[in-house]
Amino acid sequence: MDTPVLVIGSGIAGLTYALKVAEHAPVVLVTKKEHTESNTNYAQGGIATVMAVDDSPELHIQDTLTAGAGLCHLDAVTQMVREGPERVRELIAWGAQFSRDPRSEGAEMGLALGREGGHTRRRIVHAQDRTGQEVERALVAAVQCHSRIRVLEHHAAVDLLLTQEAGVPAVVGAAVLDVRMGRVDLFPARVTVLATGGCGHIYLHTTNPAIATGDGVAMAYRAGAATGNLEFIQFHPTTLYHPEARSFLISEAVRGEGGILKLRNGTPFMDAYHPMGCLAPRDVVARAIDSELKRTGDDYVLLDVTHLEPERVRHRFPQIYERCLSLGLDITREPIPVVPAAHYSCGGVVTDLRARASLRRLYAVGETACTGVHGANRLASNSLLEALVFAHHAARDTQEFLAEPAPPLPSEAEALARAANDPHRRANEVSPEFVAQMRRLVQTLMLSHVGIVRTDGRLDQALREVTLVRNAVEALFPTVRLTADLVELRNIAQVAQLIIRGALMRRESRGLHCNTDCPDRDDEHWQRDTILRRGDGE
Ligand code: FAD
Ligand code: SIN
Repeated sequence: MDTPVLVIGSGIAGLTYALKVAEHAPVVLVTKKEHTESNTNYAQGGIATVMAVDDSPELHIQDTLTAGAGLCHLDAVTQMVREGPERVRELIAWGAQFSRDPRSEGAEMGLALGREGGHTRRRIVHAQDRTGQEVERALVAAVQCHSRIRVLEHHAAVDLLLTQEAGVPAVVGAAVLDVRMGRVDLFPARVTVLATGGCGHIYLHTTNPAIATGDGVAMAYRAGAATGNLEFIQFHPTTLYHPEARSFLISEAVRGEGGILKLRNGTPFMDAYHPMGCLAPRDVVARAIDSELKRTGDDYVLLDVTHLEPERVRHRFPQIYERCLSLGLDITREPIPVVPAAHYSCGGVVTDLRARASLRRLYAVGETACTGVHGANRLASNSLLEALVFAHHAARDTQEFLAEPAPPLPSEAEALARAANDPHRRANEVSPEFVAQMRRLVQTLMLSHVGIVRTDGRLDQALREVTLVRNAVEALFPTVRLTADLVELRNIAQVAQLIIRGALMRRESRGLHCNTDCPDRDDEHWQRDTILRRGDGE
């Protein structure tokens, strides 16, 4: 069996899938920067899973459904919650080292369990405040030891390759830009897996690293796959407000350990917004901060941990403590200035319980997927868990395609690669300044017009302006030399358009989507997903 499985992305979802499927087939994994550069690598809080005697799957399911504001798919949530502990044990067996606490009675393996917003129990498995780095380290080490996994760094997938198989569209690999050589190659594949992460960089201020440009969603949409619920962009309530570290996250686990949100004058305000106070679900906390900032005219609120034992703060949050200290802020003595920033995409490529997308031979796993688990608002630390559980199912389900012969590449694919590498076209480069300005324009517009609180008028205006950018980029794309930045700009404009279209379709306010022109939740008409496919009402 020569034709490999193609995995696009090297975060928790892609690496987990690759490790599992490589037992049965050769794997090529492409990733657009260095292999560790991913949202996964920056995760702080941890992985939510039921590992304590005072906890139960029913409670975790209920907390997930409550946070999801009536839109979670119960079957997907149940699968994730029930299978979570087994997947976390597997991660530990692969070498991930999580914090332990000899005093933590009733937690499996003596694991120290943290708490975050929306959780009614302590259930967050973590490695201090560097959970993602530890998970990424362990998975990359395991992948590097695997002789059947070939990892290609600095390779950016541009588009999926499509054919017809028994009368239905099937994905047979991807066109991939070798970023350093500047050429496009075809990667034929038996099965293609989108594990490309989120899209935080569609917004000007985000916790995400620069790789998060929605590439998987954009590629899937262009290929004709269903995408869903993209209007549900989660803003993390607490990122550091500092000119030199605008996107640095202050983990929700800080509030889980007793951190209190206050106005600049020192008044706590969350109890007026929700019975869970500072540990309310994330959409509630981000909206409360947004509302207080608008009311007071301040630029930030404060997250105060000065009442906590300093040694405990330093030990539990070493990364946050050291980063703030390097900027002149000792968080054990002074409150932390914080603001919300774009953090997570609850929508994505629509998948079923096996992680299959709506095109044959295509899977989507991790943040790029819309499994139905998160509904209208993701519960904290459910993302890494979702990636582990659904990557497992995708790998298991892939076996079905491994038994079949791989369909050949369509002849148009060869023509596409020839055209992309044509010397005349390669001599025609768009100026990097133009690409950077367009990217900034979309990001600024999305922050000001498609942020935490929306209106029909601002959404309409954003759609008009983003569509202009998208059309301009699509017109340029087939005529110029491809660069990684241009590929990302095309995807940013594409996904921004989908987010706005989803937001305009949803005639209610629910979870992360708040529109003052339709302020109420409408369970009669709108307890369902917004699905967008190429050709539907574009
Ligand atoms: P990623 O980890 O983002 O990996 C995507 C990969 O795809 C990258 O390797 C990227 O380079 C590659 N890629 C993208 N496009 C292309 C392309 N065109 N071609 C080739 N490669 C491509 N979740 C939790 O559950 N708990 C937490 O504590 C937590 N903390 C977080 C803290 C921060 C600061 C951030 C940003 C997120 C946090 N999240 C947390 C969310 C969680 O980290 C992500 O949702 C999750 O890691 C996504 O994993 P992934 O494998 O889907 O994508
Ligand atoms: C955090 O540590 O606050 C991030 C957790 C998450 O995004 O799930």
